[in-house]
Amino acid sequence: MTVSIEAPTRASIAAAVARLRAGDLVAFPTETVYGLGADASNPDAVRKIFAAKGRPADHPVIVHLSAIDQLEDWARSVPQSARRLAAEFWPGPLTLVLPRAARVDDVVTGGQDSVGLRMPSHAVARDLLAAFGGGVAAPSANRFGRISPTTSAHVADDLGDAVSLILDGGACAIGIESTIVAFTTAEPMLLRPGAIGVAELSRVLGHGLRPADADAPRASGTLAAHYAPRTRASLVDAAVLCAEIAQFDQRDEAMAVLARTVTPPADFSGVWVTAPMHASAYAHDLYAALRTLDAANADEILIEKVPDEDEWHAVRDRLLRATRGEDDDRD
Ligand code: TXA
Ligand code: MG
Repeated sequence: MTVSIEAPTRASIAAAVARLRAGDLVAFPTETVYGLGADASNPDAVRKIFAAKGRPADHPVIVHLSAIDQLEDWARSVPQSARRLAAEFWPGPLTLVLPRAARVDDVVTGGQDSVGLRMPSHAVARDLLAAFGGGVAAPSANRFGRISPTTSAHVADDLGDAVSLILDGGACAIGIESTIVAFTTAEPMLLRPGAIGVAELSRVLGHGLRPADADAPRASGTLAAHYAPRTRASLVDAAVLCAEIAQFDQRDEAMAVLARTVTPPADFSGVWVTAPMHASAYAHDLYAALRTLDAANADEILIEKVPDEDEWHAVRDRLLRATRGEDDDRD
């Protein structure tokens, strides 16, 4: 099978819909990251996602919808507070975890009693979902253990011929995965921070969110070693980064750097990426930067810490996961 990367046209969307209907996989852009989609009503099709990613079968996948009124097709109950979040933030980078409807197959939920639902805002995703009509199960379109893809080239690099059609929607506007809120306990719980922050969610809910704890439904994206490059990576203060670079000459290790405020010395010979100053621009570039740094095959990646402010919450979360270095369980 050769992979075909197609510009989004009426013909390529129709071809993608035909593949979904036939039980095949299609990679498509969303505003967060690229997804690897299958017909969520077809368990055999969803199983192909796990095979293509090399992902363990007990990990749940998010079902992508084209309209808010499809919530009831997939969730057996929708609390008012969840409905308010959907009304405010859909289409957009928010996933709601709700009690699953009887029709939702175990392969979609990882055998859990809940289902993750999201209505993306990317025009290509919306066109695809509207033309398909049903729910599209889609995790990020990376191989298990790799960094999420934010361009069609990332998807092709990772999945190669495991997917035959990739719809190209350019670089994803947000660049990190959706915020996930679970409504499976009395109070809503934040399972994964994302572009929609806790302050915005709390404003709409009228109260705060519970942080993920032991009662949280299992979300592999919340396990420690996600979004990690293969190269050992550490998160360091600007001062530590400067000190390490100053000693660079005396070490026979190759270093790759993701800096933000620190500038490279003139004689620096490793790979250096300067990230944007603002949180949303930083998030937009983050996974492409990590891929570039990983491809340098350095002995270590040093990442300058980002501010300890609310708007950096989701980026800090991804950087912590990228630098934790355990590679036991990744999505
Ligand atoms: O932005 C996104 O959410 C992207 C795009 C493609 O929509 N998708 C994405 O999917 O990041 P994935 O599978 O890589 O991560 C989704 C996370 C996983 O950690 C999964 O475990 C969790 O959502 N999840 C899905 N359904 C769940 C459920 N029923 N209960 C708890 N967690 C769930
Ligand atoms: Mg993922």
